[in-house]
Amino acid sequence: MDHLPRPENCLLAIFGGSGDLTFRKLVPGLYNLFCRKLLPEGVAVLGLGRTEFSDDEFREHLKKGIREFAQADTSDEGPLSDFLERIFYLAIDTQSPEAYAGVRERLAELNERFQAGGNYLFYMSTPPSLFEPIATALGAQQLHREAGGAWRRLIVEKPFGYDLASARRLNADLQSVFREEQIYRIDHYLGKETVQNLLVLRFANGIYEPLWNRNYIEKIEITSAENIGVGSRGGYYDRAGALRDMFQNHLMHLVSMVAMEPPASFSPDAVRNESVKVFDSLRPLDPENIEASVIRGQYTAATVKGEAVKGYREEKGVPEDSRTETYVAVKFYLDNWRWAGVPFYVRTGKHLPTRVTEMVIHFKQIPHAIFGSGHGRHYQSNRLIIRIQPDEGILMTFNMKLPGGGFQVKTVDMDFHYADLADVYVPEAYERLLLDCMLGDATLYARGDAVEASWRFVAPILDAWQRADVKVYGYPAGTWGPLESRRLFDDPDGDWRYPCKNLASDGAYCEL
Ligand code: BG6
Repeated sequence: MDHLPRPENCLLAIFGGSGDLTFRKLVPGLYNLFCRKLLPEGVAVLGLGRTEFSDDEFREHLKKGIREFAQADTSDEGPLSDFLERIFYLAIDTQSPEAYAGVRERLAELNERFQAGGNYLFYMSTPPSLFEPIATALGAQQLHREAGGAWRRLIVEKPFGYDLASARRLNADLQSVFREEQIYRIDHYLGKETVQNLLVLRFANGIYEPLWNRNYIEKIEITSAENIGVGSRGGYYDRAGALRDMFQNHLMHLVSMVAMEPPASFSPDAVRNESVKVFDSLRPLDPENIEASVIRGQYTAATVKGEAVKGYREEKGVPEDSRTETYVAVKFYLDNWRWAGVPFYVRTGKHLPTRVTEMVIHFKQIPHAIFGSGHGRHYQSNRLIIRIQPDEGILMTFNMKLPGGGFQVKTVDMDFHYADLADVYVPEAYERLLLDCMLGDATLYARGDAVEASWRFVAPILDAWQRADVKVYGYPAGTWGPLESRRLFDDPDGDWRYPCKNLASDGAYCEL
């Protein structure tokens, strides 16, 4: 990546500057870019937020985040203080339009000092209720205007909308100030190296694409498991749930990457047109029969590896009778030529036994087995497992002859681990995406129509879940979620892939 062009000089204004994302991800990511000499010479960051900080206090605060979270070496004070000299802070009431004249003035001053050429990147890392007021206030100060060759861009954090109607409204509100080309909707899963590699695996190799369709693929399975609970985020999470928090955005993007047609080029619109086509092919789910396609669950108290783990309803900020899902599994189809009849199984959950995100491409069984006899003639079909995280890599299973007499068949692995690539730097997702935005490359950002299309698919699930008769299944923390999720498979022997065993030693599977 170090051969990449450097962006033009610019300023980054971060709303939510005193928040957690800025501390853990954005500024450490910028520092990594700085150390790799991928930031322009004239660059500065203006943090904006409610908390009162002087520039120096803000720098001290961010220094801790850089030390803890940046990949770059922080032992040398030199580069760290060079970088911190480019950081500034302005305390404002984001909701008050009058405060934005001060933002304009501070940016003008920094623009002058850093010769930023009027190029401004605004990052909205705030609660979503502030997205519209911030964009409108920036517009009122003409801060969206690109004059004299300067660019103005806006990065919008997730969640982008709460449902289809609010996502549409937010698109309309933002687009009434900024042009669509100026709006960068961030989804950090698209910044993950392994997710991008899926496109390279598919479209830079000759051997996969001919097989990548309904003729050779039996089913596609995507899992994104976390082994932690909601922690201190109960208040936010209880209004969101796994469907909104993970499925509608991160997992839908994984689906689009695995299912899209080859784009004509790697231009932002060529790639994003193909994503939207995938979303437009999603067969709508039937809200009247939602449990045939969607199973939701919530973790219950259990002992995991000898430690007592709280149930979701005991978490801080969560009501005792909450029906919010911490697990969701969805089965669906894409109605198009490539994927007709191929089921997609996608699940995500908190407090599962391990942290893993992977896609499994299950190829079809061979049509006729000649080796072995009786039951021994059933060989495991080939699987391509794309490990998004952790232990990033790709694994292909295939069958071979067990050495020795006869013709016994054994399934073995061909396994590639990113960790085996010595001296290769794997950038953090935010680092990659921030750089892309500064370079004006929106390929790995979600376009407005894609976000709406994905909400459209999720809408019948949200509708059905309003009904009291649609069940929420309790699963003990440390297990792979509700046993009912197996019912999604047509084949009575069908099941998910379990990268490891359940870890709970007690706890209840129950209906909540
Ligand atoms: C965030 C969700 O978007 O993604 C979190 O809000 C989740 O609930 C996180 O834990 C997972 O991201 P990652 O990169 O750790 O898989």
